[in-house]
Amino acid sequence: MKNRLLSLLCVLCTLVPTTLAQGLKDAYKDYFKVGVALNVGNLTPDQEAIVVREFNSVTCENAMKPVSVHPERGVWDWAQADSIANFCRRNGIKMRGHCLVWHNQFSNWMLTDKKGNPVKKEVFYQLLREHIHTVVNRYKDVVYCWDVVNEAMSDDGRPRRWGEAPNPYRESELYKLCGDEFIAKAFEYAREADPNALLFYNDYNECDPGKSQRIYNMVKKMKDAGVPIDGIGMQGHYNVYGPSMEDVAAAIELYSKVVDHLHITELDIRANEQMGGQLQFSRQGMEIKPYVRTLHEDQYNSLFRTLRRYKDKIDVVTFWNLSDKDSWVGTSNYPLLFDKDLKEKHVYYTVRDFDPALDNAVVIEDFKPSELNQPGQEYPMVNSQGYARFRVDAPQARSVIVSLGLGGRGGTVLHKDKDGMWVGTTEAPMDEGFHYYHLTIDGGTFNDPGACNYYGSVRWESGIEIPAHDRDFYANKNVPHGRIQEVLFWSESTQTVRRAMVYTPPFYGEQVGKKAKKPVQYPVLYLQHGWGEDETAWSRQGHVGLIMDNLIAEGKIAPFIIVMTYGMTNELKWGHMQEFDWTAFQRVLMDELVPYIDQHFTTIADRDHRAMAGLSMGGMETRMATLARPEMFGYWGLLSGGIYEPKDLEGVMAPRHIFISCGSKEFGDRVNAAVESLNAAGYKATGYVSEGTAHEFLTWRRSVREMAPLLFK
Ligand code: XIL
Repeated sequence: MKNRLLSLLCVLCTLVPTTLAQGLKDAYKDYFKVGVALNVGNLTPDQEAIVVREFNSVTCENAMKPVSVHPERGVWDWAQADSIANFCRRNGIKMRGHCLVWHNQFSNWMLTDKKGNPVKKEVFYQLLREHIHTVVNRYKDVVYCWDVVNEAMSDDGRPRRWGEAPNPYRESELYKLCGDEFIAKAFEYAREADPNALLFYNDYNECDPGKSQRIYNMVKKMKDAGVPIDGIGMQGHYNVYGPSMEDVAAAIELYSKVVDHLHITELDIRANEQMGGQLQFSRQGMEIKPYVRTLHEDQYNSLFRTLRRYKDKIDVVTFWNLSDKDSWVGTSNYPLLFDKDLKEKHVYYTVRDFDPALDNAVVIEDFKPSELNQPGQEYPMVNSQGYARFRVDAPQARSVIVSLGLGGRGGTVLHKDKDGMWVGTTEAPMDEGFHYYHLTIDGGTFNDPGACNYYGSVRWESGIEIPAHDRDFYANKNVPHGRIQEVLFWSESTQTVRRAMVYTPPFYGEQVGKKAKKPVQYPVLYLQHGWGEDETAWSRQGHVGLIMDNLIAEGKIAPFIIVMTYGMTNELKWGHMQEFDWTAFQRVLMDELVPYIDQHFTTIADRDHRAMAGLSMGGMETRMATLARPEMFGYWGLLSGGIYEPKDLEGVMAPRHIFISCGSKEFGDRVNAAVESLNAAGYKATGYVSEGTAHEFLTWRRSVREMAPLLFK
């Protein structure tokens, strides 16, 4: 929320255009094919265009299943399968055939005779052989592999009946008639029909350690007996909570010991844990909460990262359906990369525009506790590259997300380690400097008990510090230090007691030497925080006092006072910027606080010794206040808070110096252009762009360091 608001407020968003791949198939051309399951409803011009752009393998969702093509004895219905196959033929897309034998959507008539009595297995085999030969032959030119047998293994591996040994096989009608021999027969018939097609055993829950072992054992047994099984199809009907990537990797490793070809055949990642074909009915009214979207995107991201790692073992990854609109698990299960209106979701880009460098990144294991941790707390940790690692104790939680992350994906999803602790490391190094964050545990917002809290996003957020290479300028050193005091003042306009934090430089108010001298008078900078923050931000996360002390100690600036008060920014509601009353704060600041400060501190109470600056929304307040009452302040500073242009200053009492800054990940070009045009128009203006930083406090700490020497000259 905060990031969204800030980016809107300051028109900061400079999206870096990268050279983008055309479609999924192009992005993954060096890894594996990317496929999609289609039904005839997908054969519309708009959907066909997506298929052609994105995919290089197609599976019929239902149209080639026995019940579809061979509903009754002697009755063949090719219409739907033909139209999908013809679409593929026209577009040069090869198909995965799905499927020849399954306990569901099967030609059940094969199992009984005309009178309805069970047939002998020899009779069944004859019918099955004819079926397989007919279907395989019809699509030989376009189908490169077949799911020959689907879902023949048991889910739980438990005994069916009291006192019996567990049966690794599903006790389907097929199994009851033939035992596991029907599996061998089906593969033999398929190989006879098309010696060139790759033949697959296909199943779900295939990453479950128990079931993957049953699948492996069966395929091993069959292959040892000479059954022509070329590959294992991992269906990939996953959800936001599982499987773990450890289980996915273990299944891939296991299966690749027995077959040379692994296909992910039916990938979707749904928002809940239910299984099976009845999902459409239980999803009613389901709302996808933002944290579930984050889990969803993370699961896709982690999965594709894992699959890329195993590109030598995996030939194709097929999505089960094109868009959420016609997903078999229902639109509101949010399962696919395209939404119900066929638009790419954010997760589509995460999957497509992956960074191979991140896949191969080596994280150096020199993590140390963040310097902002609570006393004695080990986590969060930071390493020398800028990775952050989190560890949270939440034994009963279903999901833990840290709001820090990359690529707008909503953060870093933690996973339970073997000790039951939730742990995770950011996917890439973070920017140097200070970051706010919080935890989202099962959708609720919490602070990290390891970290200290800092006011931002209209709440006390957890904070973490990635040590910056130039952190010396705000280091706490053995130099004379100023003081930051809390000042409570009465505001007539708001009828409230208000608070300001006031920095006075070293030796302020102290009588140096024995003889009482006239107190030194100081200029004053009024310095505003951003949206979501308050009057504590600049001194705590901004380290403004230390920055001043160090600049003074180095003789880079003459001492001055800094006054920081609450800018009344936090009542602003999302989308209601227009309604924000800029004048309420102007009254408090200029009619109440400035006179109070001039009365209670030894200041030089004139325009040439008074400055106003602010970060982000505090910059916008500075801009409004200085343009409205230019006689109040001689020095104006905008820190990631917009710009002044010469036209803004027409007819306005000219400032003595303008300072404009931002981070290099913000709108540096606009800052530089504005400063140039101000200089050209005869104004004294200085710009600064903080290297490698965004809309965060390291930008503003550095900005104060750059701005302070320019003030009151
Ligand atoms: C599903 C289809 O998507 C649905 O339209 C149909 O009603 C049931 O079957 N495993 C498989 C697929 O191998 O064939 C199933 O497809 C999903 C589970």
